[in-house]
Amino acid sequence: MKDFHDISGCPPAYLPEDTSDVKKIMEVLVEAERCAVRQYTKICNMTAGKDHRTYDLAQAILHEEIQHESWFSEFLGEGPSGHYLRRGDTSPFVSKFLE
Ligand SMILES: [Fe+2]
Repeated sequence: MKDFHDISGCPPAYLPEDTSDVKKIMEVLVEAERCAVRQYTKICNMTAGKDHRTYDLAQAILHEEIQHESWFSEFLGEGPSGHYLRRGDTSPFVSKFLE
């Protein structure tokens, strides 16, 4: 699993030494989500108009990563997040790939 992570475009998300510092933990998490957003954006850009299935999947995951980023950003009080309610257990973005 570490080998797989090491070829990703994002650095490891290490928690702060003081694990009671919730703000610091949220800052680590929001940066991890922002890196994921950048990586899936790159995949979308690489596959747009070339590999429709991969593009569709990468775009669905990109939507989820943006949503995750908005949750942590909202918690940190960085401003309006665009967060919306998700009903049910399955994301509307990836549910079409899970059936
Ligand atoms: Fe995420």
